Amino acid sequence: MKKTIDEHAERFSEKATEYDGSKSEEYHACRSLVIEHAAPTSEDIVLDLGTGTGAIALALAADAKKVVGRDISDGMLAEARRKADEAGIENIEFGDGRFRDPNYDGPVSIATSNFALHHLSDDEKRDAIETIAALEPDRFVLGDVMFFETPDPEAPFYSPEVDDPATVGALADMFTDAGFVLTAVERVHPQVGVLVGERVPIDRQTIDYDSDR
Ligand SMILES: C[S@@+](CC[C@H](N)C(=O)[O-])C[C@H]1O[C@@H](n2cnc3c(N)ncnc32)[C@H](O)[C@@H]1O
Repeated sequence: MKKTIDEHAERFSEKATEYDGSKSEEYHACRSLVIEHAAPTSEDIVLDLGTGTGAIALALAADAKKVVGRDISDGMLAEARRKADEAGIENIEFGDGRFRDPNYDGPVSIATSNFALHHLSDDEKRDAIETIAALEPDRFVLGDVMFFETPDPEAPFYSPEVDDPATVGALADMFTDAGFVLTAVERVHPQVGVLVGERVPIDRQTIDYDSDR
């Protein structure tokens, strides 16, 4: 992590009220893909980590049974709560929580995160993905800054002083090591993408190489 949790929290709180108006076309494309892949039904409980002002959480609430949003920034959470109140959304709960300590131990069927995990170092991302897997969601949808090609600090979405994105390959290893089967990889930009992991019971995690013989 290039900044401490407190530094990230303060940085986001300072820009919380302007945050929603400052997003790029690629951010919106990534957000739409996360929402599309999460696809909750009225039975699903969604945990959205690094929820910010609720871009993912609020969009999923209409179809989900319940959405739980967690973030480290009081300012971002205040915006998320304000937007939920304004929209009259009641099946949503925002609160303090971190990737590696979500401060939530209820049931989760879908975990999501958008544009947030890249603030953690790769070792911390691995811990975070294992923490998410331990909550036993059926699906984990991650939209984020991630490297499909050689990292380019001059290109958008990657500011080395605050960001610590992983390569797609490293993230894919973290997903599979945590017990997720990677079912979709969406490339939005050379430095932005969406990964979808599904949890498959251990006894079904074998590949039948002889299936068509
Ligand atoms: C770029 S914003 C993304 C917000 C939202 N997910 C979206 O799609 O607009 C990143 C968010 O991650 C949060 N964040 C950073 N580090 C975090 C951590 N370790 N645990 C939880 N949230 C974190 C920040 O406070 C911020 O609200």
